[in-house]
Amino acid sequence: MEAAPIYHVKPDLAASAVINAARHRLMSNHAITDADGFWQEEAGRIDWIRPPQLADNSSFDGDVRISWFSDGILNVSVNCLDRHLDLHGDRDALIWQGEAEDDSRILTYRQLHAEVCRLANALRGLGIRKGDRVAIYLPMVAEGAIAMLACARIGAVHVVMFAGFSASGIADRLGDCGAKLVITADEGRRAGKRVPLKATIDEALALASGGSAGAGKPIAPHTVEHVLVLRLTGGNVAMQRKRDLDYAEAVRGQPARCEPEPMGAEDPLLLLYTSGSTGKPKGLLHTTAGYLLWARFTHEAVFDYRPGEVFWCTADIGWVTGHSYVVYGPLANAGTTLMFEGTPSWPEPGRWWRLIDKYKVASFYTAPTAIRSMMRDDPGFLAATSRKSLRVLGSVGEPINPEAWLWYYHEVGGERCAVVDTWWQTETGGIMIAPLPGAIAQKPGSATLPLPGVVPVLVDEKGQVLEGEAEGHLCISRSWPGQARTIWGDHARYVQTYFTTYPGSYFTGDGARRDGDGYYWITGRVDDVINVSGHRIGSAEVEAALDHHDQVAEAAVVGVPHDIKGQALFAFVVLKGKEAAPGYEAELARHVGQMLGRYAAPDTVLLVPDLPKTRSGKIMRRILRKIATRDTAELGDTTTLADPAVVQDLIRRMEERS
Ligand code: PRX
Repeated sequence: MEAAPIYHVKPDLAASAVINAARHRLMSNHAITDADGFWQEEAGRIDWIRPPQLADNSSFDGDVRISWFSDGILNVSVNCLDRHLDLHGDRDALIWQGEAEDDSRILTYRQLHAEVCRLANALRGLGIRKGDRVAIYLPMVAEGAIAMLACARIGAVHVVMFAGFSASGIADRLGDCGAKLVITADEGRRAGKRVPLKATIDEALALASGGSAGAGKPIAPHTVEHVLVLRLTGGNVAMQRKRDLDYAEAVRGQPARCEPEPMGAEDPLLLLYTSGSTGKPKGLLHTTAGYLLWARFTHEAVFDYRPGEVFWCTADIGWVTGHSYVVYGPLANAGTTLMFEGTPSWPEPGRWWRLIDKYKVASFYTAPTAIRSMMRDDPGFLAATSRKSLRVLGSVGEPINPEAWLWYYHEVGGERCAVVDTWWQTETGGIMIAPLPGAIAQKPGSATLPLPGVVPVLVDEKGQVLEGEAEGHLCISRSWPGQARTIWGDHARYVQTYFTTYPGSYFTGDGARRDGDGYYWITGRVDDVINVSGHRIGSAEVEAALDHHDQVAEAAVVGVPHDIKGQALFAFVVLKGKEAAPGYEAELARHVGQMLGRYAAPDTVLLVPDLPKTRSGKIMRRILRKIATRDTAELGDTTTLADPAVVQDLIRRMEERS
């Protein structure tokens, strides 16, 4: 294989870096030889009510226990707000930019602190106590961050749900986590249109009062007592007396101070639902100290962040990237975080580049799918901006192809910026493998080296650990503070999903290659999780939604390569009746969109008479993937196929399509 080009660390970045190459070596060494000492030092960079004596007390064996700093006491909102007030109270904490250019809002640390306290007091007034779950279903508005921090202040566990989820997806999650209160808005705004939010919550609550969703299974009844409704558009929404309350009224008159709840390091901070290869989305639990430490540490190290700079992560707060790098990381570092409610190309392309100039953004963090889509815009939109404030360009969510990397580096960054390709997951809480701008040379397409204290291993199918240059399944062999502790309400599923494939190691679900320099190249998921535009979708979820349609007998969904989205969803569907009306494929795609949210609607639906199965009745997705990508010259082992004629029939149907 040809050697990959290397982009060396820029001397000016190295000279002033928070972590330069020498410090990186020192830290990596320290983290291995004296892990507890290393992490205690990092723990010293956050504020404690009672500092911990203990560091790591985790075990990947048996029942699996993840525990860090367990005797410490602290509060996350104090770390993100109060501790900055004396020195930086008047610094911009959160810049919010709406779709309309003149619709923006800047909150200093003092103002953000006051807003958070008011809402925290209001939540307490509504009976929310430590440990209660609060669901947040908001678009990218400042109140999303305020709501998260208000929950953290009073010890409530926030459960942010992406504003693109459908009513039944929300109903499932509300039932599973047992939320007591929901914070939402009347409507969202997207590319000039309005998106119903409160109406979707109403529908979800109705469903979770005895309806059914997903694979037709009943949804756990919800436990929601109140819905707080933020007025964004002023659109007319139904308000149920006593249950539904106006956000502005609830916070009006509340004191701008609120006593923070002292939290144990291992007390729950947040739940985030994410997709796996089987079953319904699972609620991953992150706890107080370890998550905060990881968000703070990785945000500073990977973006070489210096307080006072404007940091912009384009992720929605409904996903983990928004949690760690729109809210917690930047605010724990006394940073200025930019939140943008709009889309990259509305009202016209180049909006993101103009915002970088407008707010003098120093670090910009986005997904390869967005980069690939903007590469196709008229270059005049990019050329009309200077982007000279940029120092670091980040990428996350899926492998970045070298072509997109190079465009990002040359065209967006003007060859002055470090490009940091960051590999991590909802389960890891924050970045795990990434170059540090002042310390690690970059290779386009590689996430490079693990952060200090992160110990990746590559394992073959049999569980043998591979040394040196190798390709295998990516595992992490030691706990790190940001690791998810469990799946809410189902620790057995947590152990089963992550720790039984390769006992003694955390299995990520990704494949990776390690080159001669020890650099990691993530090759993508090795399970049935499909990554569409950086959205993680379980094939099982989409199949269950299709199965739920009354005309569908059976369905199988696979991921196929897509130029912009990375992967696209391809569904093979067997109908109950023989013939379908023309256009029925679109109806099925729409149905999935309604069940799960538009982001999960299949790009292609192919109606077929049968699916290839093993003699024991298991659908052979591996073969379907080959058929969907027309890569059928070599089908691999087909000896277990129950009926080879099914495969030939599907190949013929694909040929007929082209
Ligand atoms: O397959 C990997 C891919 O995204 C998955 C995690 O998705 P999620 O939990 O939704 O978190 C996304 C944001 C961290 C991983 O298992 N992934 C994430 N970052 C990269 C990546 N694949 C390749 N390169 C990356 N930099």
